[in-house]
Amino acid sequence: MGYNVAVDGPAGAGKSTIARLVAKEKGYIYVDTGAMYRALAVHFLKKGIAPEDTQGIIEACGDADVSIRYENGIQQVYLNGENVTGMLRTEEVGNMASRTSAIPGVREKLLELQRMLARENDVIMDGRDIGTNILPEADVKIFLTASVETRAKRRYDELRSKGEDCDLEQIARDIAERDARDMNRETAPLKRAEDAVLIDSSDMTIPEVVSEICSHCK
Ligand code: DC
Repeated sequence: MGYNVAVDGPAGAGKSTIARLVAKEKGYIYVDTGAMYRALAVHFLKKGIAPEDTQGIIEACGDADVSIRYENGIQQVYLNGENVTGMLRTEEVGNMASRTSAIPGVREKLLELQRMLARENDVIMDGRDIGTNILPEADVKIFLTASVETRAKRRYDELRSKGEDCDLEQIARDIAERDARDMNRETAPLKRAEDAVLIDSSDMTIPEVVSEICSHCK
């Protein structure tokens, strides 16, 4: 069994930025589980299946093979042999992933891949149900959050820096909507594990959050 650090929290809390830095400092592999749900979302979008069509989504899982490789220490996600890493971070794919990740068949599809990576490697794995469901025996559990306003502003700055046109209020509404969906779904909802350390990053710098998490790890 590898050494396992689970990081859960809502969209835009900075999980991936922070987890990537902790991985580098501690020599763990960073496993981004959201990217796996996003890869499946790309598959559903390519097939033109609506997220409400639960049966269609479950059937489409049958011909989706998601796998992970590490190239220069960076996670690459493959969908049926194609590297889709560059296609994952759009709002369209994020919304599709948020909707379809509520379907139990979609979650089952990715569960074993996530557990296998944690068995075979020292990992810091981020997502929504890592500490509660995927790795309930994780050595360290972190619940990383921040206010909706802070998260919206970070996302806004990120999009603007890429030259994308966007609206702060719309982003805040999307984030609040996604939180509600991730927290209120029946299967594996986003919630803090009882033994998770709560970190609110609203007024913290990135190095402060990284250092706090590292202080809990071996
Ligand atoms: O972390 P992210 O924004 O890349 O995740 C995209 C969506 O995937 C998110 O809205 C909820 C879902 N997700 C999930 O249900 N469980 C996970 N472990 C990771 C992501």
